Amino acid sequence: MRTLQVALAERSYDIHIGAGLLSTFPLADRVCGNQVMVVTNETIAPLYLEALVSRLSHLQCDTLVLPDGERFKTLDTLERIFDALMAHGHSRTTTLVALGGGVIGDMVGFAAACYQRGVDFIQVPTTLLAQVDSSVGGKTAVNHPRGKNMIGAFHQPNLVLIDTDVLDTLPERELAAGLAEVIKYGLIRDPAFYQWLETRSADLLSRDKEALSEAIYRSCLNKAQVVADDETEQGNRALLNLGHTFGHAIETATGYSEWLHGEAVATGMLMAVYMSAELGWLDRALINRLRDQLRAWKLPTAVPAPMTPAQFMELMALDKKVQNGRLRLVLLRALGDAVVTADYDPQALQRTLEAFCDR
Ligand code: NAD
Ligand code: GLY
Repeated sequence: MRTLQVALAERSYDIHIGAGLLSTFPLADRVCGNQVMVVTNETIAPLYLEALVSRLSHLQCDTLVLPDGERFKTLDTLERIFDALMAHGHSRTTTLVALGGGVIGDMVGFAAACYQRGVDFIQVPTTLLAQVDSSVGGKTAVNHPRGKNMIGAFHQPNLVLIDTDVLDTLPERELAAGLAEVIKYGLIRDPAFYQWLETRSADLLSRDKEALSEAIYRSCLNKAQVVADDETEQGNRALLNLGHTFGHAIETATGYSEWLHGEAVATGMLMAVYMSAELGWLDRALINRLRDQLRAWKLPTAVPAPMTPAQFMELMALDKKVQNGRLRLVLLRALGDAVVTADYDPQALQRTLEAFCDR
C-alpha cells in the first residue's frame, strides 16, 4: 500500500492506494462514530458492496443502492440519500461512504456536506477517473437540468481508499476516459510523467497492474499538491480544467449521452494544445504527439460532426471560468507549463474552432 496526504491543515487526509484494499484495509478503525451508510449503485453493488460492508460489521452499517448513470446525479436522488439517513436514524456523527465512480462520489460528497450541516465521508473510488481525479479534492455536486455540477459545495473527504483491483471489471471505454484525466497532469505540470505515460501507453491500456498503480499514485500526487495550494479554486486549481471548456461544450451539444466526460476532455485538451500552438506559445510537435497518444488509447480526437465554431462559442460562454464577460481558457506555454488566461488573441481561438469543425 502507498499513502499520500492532502495537506489542508485540520482538514488534511490520507489517500491509500493498493491492490485488494477493499477487503483488507481496516476501514472501521477510520470511522469516528458508530454509524456508517455506504452508498453505491446497482452496477457496483453486486461486485464490491459485500466486501466493503464486511469491513464495517461491528458498526451500524446501512446501505443504499442507487440507479446507475449521470442522469441520476440530481437533487431528486440526493433526497433519497437524506431519506435513507433519516429513516435509519443517522446522527451528526455518522459517516457516509461513497463506493463508485465520480457520479456516486460527487453526489455522496454533497449529501455529506449538507446532512445536518456536514458529516464525515469516505471516498472509495471504483473508476480510474474517480481514482485519479474526482475522489480527491472535495469538489462535490449534483447537476441542474440547465447545467452540469451547478449545485454543490467544497467538502473534503476524511479518507480516500483506492483499491486498484476494482479496475479489473471496468469497461475499456471507461478506463480510457480515465487515462485522459491522467495525461492531463503531465500536460499541465509534470512533463516527466507525460514522457513516462508515452513509454507505458500500451501497458496502461492492457491494465498492467504496476503501470496502473504508478499512474494512479503520480496523478493523486499531482492533484493533492494542486488542491493543497488552492483548495477553493481561487487560482491554479483551474489548471485542472485543461480541455474542459471545449469538452463541456461537446458534452452539452451531445446531450451528455454519447460522449463520456473523459472522452470530451481528450478532444478538448487537443484543441487547447492546438490553440496554444496557434498563439505561437508552444511547439506544434506536441499536437501530433498528443493526438497519437490519445488515439493509442482509442480516445476521440475530432469534434462531433454537426458542431460549428458558432455553437462552440455559444456553449463556451456559459463556462464557469467566464469572468466579466471574458472567456478564460487553460492554455500551455510549454509541456508541463499551463496558464489560465483571458489574455489571448481571439483569432487563434477562431482558427482552432474552424480547424476542428472543418470536415
Ligand atoms: P461514473 O461514476 O458514471 O462511472 C462510469 C460507469 O462505470 C458507471 O456505469 C459505473 O456504474 C461503472 N463502474 C464504476 N466502477 C466500476 C467498476 N469497478 N467495474 C465496473 N463498472 C464500474 O463515471 P466517472 O467517469 O467515474 O465519473 C464521472 C463524473 O465525475 C461526472 O459526473 C463528473 O462531473 C464527475 N467529476 C468530478 C470531479 C471532481 O473533482 N469532483 C472531477 C472529474 C469528474
Ligand atoms: N477536477 C477538477 C478539480 O478537482 O478541480
